[in-house]
Amino acid sequence: MPFRAITPIATPRLTLRPVAAADLEDLLEINGDPEVTRFLPYSTWQSVDDGAAWLARMEALAATGTGRQLVLVRNADTKVVGTLLLFRYDEGSGRIELGYVLGRSHWGQGLMREAIGAACAHAFGALKLRRIEAEVNPANVASNQLLLGAGFVLEGTLRKRWVDKGTAYDTNIYGYLADDWRSRADRR
Ligand SMILES: CC(C)(COP(=O)(O)OP(=O)(O)OC[C@H]1O[C@@H](n2cnc3c(N)ncnc32)[C@H](O)[C@@H]1OP(=O)(O)O)[C@@H](O)C(=O)NCCC(=O)NCCS
Repeated sequence: MPFRAITPIATPRLTLRPVAAADLEDLLEINGDPEVTRFLPYSTWQSVDDGAAWLARMEALAATGTGRQLVLVRNADTKVVGTLLLFRYDEGSGRIELGYVLGRSHWGQGLMREAIGAACAHAFGALKLRRIEAEVNPANVASNQLLLGAGFVLEGTLRKRWVDKGTAYDTNIYGYLADDWRSRADRR
């Protein structure tokens, strides 16, 4: 069965919902910033055309049934402030991978922790998945810290796994199990 569409997920400050073409203007503001795309596997957007090409890739991903691209909408004013991708869905193993991006002016306010917490609760709860994975460049301090704080476990480092923007780099592999999530919820 393909990875199913995700209905909007509400958090105190955000709503996570499927991406739409009308989001591209806000998304250009986010992905047009080289500080934001520094550790991302795509180039800094130069125009709405780059956004349209990205959206076509995300729509193709949804069509394969292996992923869903969500956006983070700020509840206060409905501005799109970031993205959250669920991809590489493996139905047999109940596993998905997570990717995320937040506009620079919104960093450091706990917004992505809020979004990831809700996305993981949805994945382990409603979707009954077993494992969520994430790959992070060790130099991306904020992203590594974010995952550890959200309950993910650093399971290892793969050396020079990827080449991007002309440079080979290591990858930290993070895993979060449904059992980890349940014990964390019990502790609260
Ligand atoms: C990574 C990113 C999503 C973090 O989002 P954020 O909303 O600023 O993170 P939060 O405010 O929720 O903070 C989460 C944790 O990370 C820590 N953190 C955030 N930015 C940090 C930084 N620059 N340096 C060190 N720690 C940082 C916070 O202190 C917090 O730690 P805690 O849980 O121990 O309190 C954001 O920096 C971003 O979009 N970066 C560019 C895109 C990117 O690299 N995506 C990830 C690719 S793997």
